[in-house]
Amino acid sequence: MTTRAQDIAALVSNVADTEHRFLLHGDRHDPRVTPWMPYQPADFIAIIWECLPVVTTLAQDHTPKFLDVGSGPGTKLDIAQDLFGLEVCGVEIDSGMAAEAKLFTVHQNALDFPHYKDFDLIWLYRPFRDAGLERELETLIIQEMKPGAILAGGSWETDPGSLGWETIVDDTLNNPNGPGCIWRGAWRKPQAA
Ligand SMILES: C[S@@+](CC[C@H](N)C(=O)[O-])C[C@H]1O[C@@H](n2cnc3c(N)ncnc32)[C@H](O)[C@@H]1O
Repeated sequence: MTTRAQDIAALVSNVADTEHRFLLHGDRHDPRVTPWMPYQPADFIAIIWECLPVVTTLAQDHTPKFLDVGSGPGTKLDIAQDLFGLEVCGVEIDSGMAAEAKLFTVHQNALDFPHYKDFDLIWLYRPFRDAGLERELETLIIQEMKPGAILAGGSWETDPGSLGWETIVDDTLNNPNGPGCIWRGAWRKPQAA
């Protein structure tokens, strides 16, 4: 029997090993797509932690549902399930990484994924290098996700402040020397939208 500390140590070790093993995996020659360049796990944990009280309130009759858009080999799914007890799903375009994931992952282009409305917490960290495609995906998710659900992540084309949504955590990196910033954090779609 393992202790809770041993379980967490195994999770951290597995996430670090898998994220390292798949680094830059994917179609590196497609200028539109980012390959596997994972979000810093500690920053991911910090942002999801801030979302938990809200998603727990939203999902009173079910386990909160978490989606990683561009989930690669599924490490953020592992953390969301094993550390936070969320019900998880990934969508990933690369068949090799989708097959590697231990937890439920749909092998599909995120632009064709029809289930954004089913999730309480959606994690989106830059599947597309191409700004136009990235904006198209963000617009789709923003429209389709259910009222009250949270969109978290970063490196978006959309300025979350322009949406008029509730800020759960704003960890945006601003460039003090001129224009430009990297949106990071979590924002909640209004209930009445
Ligand atoms: C920057 S990584 C994000 C990794 C992970 N979500 C995280 O936060 O650590 C982008 C991932 O999106 C995937 N991806 C790229 N285009 C995609 C698409 N159209 N549909 C689904 N996944 C896509 C890539 O294969 C890659 O695994």
